[in-house]
Formats: sequence, structure tokens, C-alpha cells
Amino acid sequence: MLTGKRILLIVTGGIAAYKTPDLVRRLRERGAAVRCVLTEGGARFVTPLSLSAVSGDKVYRDLFDLTDEQEMGHIQLSRDADVILVAPASADVLAKMAHGLATDLATTALLATDKPVIVAPAMNVRMWEHAATRANLRTLMDRGVTVIGPEDGDMACGEFGPGRMTEPLDIVAAVVAFFHGGRPLAGRHALVTSGPTHEPIDPVRYIANRSSGKQGHAIATALAALGARVTLVTGPVALKDPPGVATVHVETARDMLAACLEALPADIAVCAAAVADWRAADTAPEKMKKDGGPLSALALAENPDILAALAQPGPDRPALVVGFAAETETVVAHARAKLKKKGCDWICANDVSPETGTFGGDMNRVHLVTADGIEASEVEDWPALTKAQVGEKLARRIARHLAPAAAEDAGSSAE
Ligand code: C5P
Repeated sequence: MLTGKRILLIVTGGIAAYKTPDLVRRLRERGAAVRCVLTEGGARFVTPLSLSAVSGDKVYRDLFDLTDEQEMGHIQLSRDADVILVAPASADVLAKMAHGLATDLATTALLATDKPVIVAPAMNVRMWEHAATRANLRTLMDRGVTVIGPEDGDMACGEFGPGRMTEPLDIVAAVVAFFHGGRPLAGRHALVTSGPTHEPIDPVRYIANRSSGKQGHAIATALAALGARVTLVTGPVALKDPPGVATVHVETARDMLAACLEALPADIAVCAAAVADWRAADTAPEKMKKDGGPLSALALAENPDILAALAQPGPDRPALVVGFAAETETVVAHARAKLKKKGCDWICANDVSPETGTFGGDMNRVHLVTADGIEASEVEDWPALTKAQVGEKLARRIARHLAPAAAEDAGSSAE
């Protein structure tokens, strides 16, 4: 519930602004008091009258019009709020927030506030995917701004993809979660590796494996949803970068290790990537030619072990280092041995024998082996879940381990 909570809702320009009267109604149904600031762009999509009717309050628009007795300055507006919610948040307002511009009442209130800020971005998919928007979002998240969505879907501009504002009821759920400690990993930095690596043999050939990156990407998404700042280091995959996650694209194991070390310090490291164990010892500068016979020698060199490197004791070691063990037989026994060998804290062991369809598929069955379990032989056997559910369960399990009190508040104690 949101009883007694005061929300300053900033409505910026975007077609999704037409959904904000419904959003206000839903927030008020849960007991929140909502005061609206409407930007010039926002006013093209929703009228002040509609917002004022549903909020039961005046709608604030003008930075300089303080002549009216009922008028309130930007400082007072943010002072009187428990949280500022920007919905829809246009690419423009995100850019202004990231750079500290204060050109109207909305951006001035946002710059002047010391209250928590939640944004629900909505924009054309290309604007969402533009490097400038990604960088702005990163900056805002680093400053503690909470990001809700956007969602994939058909967009008003006729395109399909991420950029649609999260539906009002889901925004309300996220606001409720925000007030009830639904972000137990807020303030933590999580590093996740995902996907395969490609190890070149010559300019056109490479050694690779069947990893799709679905599990690693799902873990990154789930950790971000619990409030963590997430850096995802991914090999080549056919997946979109998860929204709200800083994604670094690499090809080889050595690049992946370098990107991971660069991303430190981190509180959590989850190595879900299927890193190639070997690379070609020498890459041919030109495409290798067939000569009618077998290729008798392709010398391979061992790749660095990223998980083991991150798990090494030292000042930069993340508090929790989690590895995966993809096995085709005696899964748990191998996982235990791997836990010891790599020095990590947990291993998520999964059976990837071809009949399970785990590689590239949407389901996964995990056995979580924790360091305590090495001697005691304690293992959590999770049921068959979708990779998204495995990501969520693992993120909640991590939250419970690192921030037990906050995770309990967020209702994850039943995990
Ligand atoms: O040794 P193995 O590949 O079976 O171990 C799997 C675990 O180790 C996974 O968590 C994987 O991401 C990680 N790994 C790694 N770097 C490697 C090999 C594996 O991080 N070179």
C-alpha cells in the first residue's frame, strides 16, 4: 500500500503520457497523494484538466509563475514529496537529468531535489538504444535513480522493440516495491558474464560453443530488478542488451577477463558465460587454405579462467562469487569439485546433456552447491524453471545472503 505517501509525478512529452491519468488514479487508489508537474511536451499528449481532475490537485507547469497564491516553487514541490516519479520519461528529460540541466519546472525540481527519483522511460526504440541514452541512463542509475522498464512491444511509431512505457499497474507495483524495500540489492554492484566466447583461428574462422547467453542475461536483468547496479560482460549473442544494465560486448576469453577486471570492484560476481577453454595458440593472419589433406595440427593454448581469477583472495574480490557448472553426468559431484578448484562461493550446477535442451533452450534445472555444502554435502535442488525464473530465484537468493534484512522486507524470505 502507499497510504500517506506523497508522489510528485512529472509527466514529460511522449505518447505514453495519455496513460498518466490512469496511473494517477491507480496510485491514489492505493492511498498515495499525487501532485503533477506537466512539461510543455507532456501537455501535448494529456491535458492539465484531466490530470488535475484525477489527482484532485492543481497541475504545475510554469517555473516562473509564482504570482498565484496556490503556486509552488520547484523547491517546495520536491520538499513536499516522498518520491519523484517521472512517467513517461522522454529521452530528452533523461539527458537533461544526466547533465544537470534545469530549463523548466520539471527539470529544475529534479535538479533541486534530494528525494529518491524513479523514472519510467518511454521513447522510440532507436532513441532508447542510442549510445547517448544508454550513457545517460547509466549515469542516472549510478546516482541511485530507479528505472522501471521500458517494455518490448508495438510502438506508436510503427516499430517493435524496447521503448514502450511500463503499464500503469506495473509502475504502481514497482513504486510499492520501492517503498517496501523491494530493492534489497540497492547500492551493490554486480558483475555478470554471459554467452559464449569466440576464439579466432584465422580472420574468418573461430572456436565457439552453443551457449545462447539467455541464462546470464536473465540473471543480470533479475539482479538489476532487485536494485543492483549491474555490469554485464557478454560474448557474442543474439540477445538485446537488458534495459538498465551496463552491457560490455567482448569476443574472446581474454577480452572478457580484461572487461571483468576493469569493472571491479564489485560486490557480486556471477560467471554464467560458457568461456572457451582453449584458443588457437597462433591466429593465422590470412584465411587458412585447404590443401587436400587433413589439418594435422591446430595448436591450442589454454584460456584464462575468469571465475577463478575473480574468486582469488584479494582486496578486489567480490563478497560473493558464483560460478556455473554445465555437466552432462554426475552433475553435483563435479560441481563440488569445481567449487573447491575455482575458489568460488557457490556453484549453480546444471545438466546440459542434449536431452535436457538446456543449451539454447528456455528451461534450466539448477542444483545450487554452496561452500558450506562441500563437506556437509548440502545442495539445493531447484525444480525445472524457465531461465528467467532461475535468474530471479538466484537474484533473490543472493539478496538473502548479502542483505538478509532488506530481502526479508522485500518478501523474499520464502525462497
Ligand atoms: O571449468 P568449467 O568451464 O567447467 O567451469 C565453469 C564455470 O567457470 C562457469 O561459471 C564459467 O563461467 C567459468 N569459467 C570462466 N573462465 C573460463 C572457464 C570457465 O569464467 N575460462
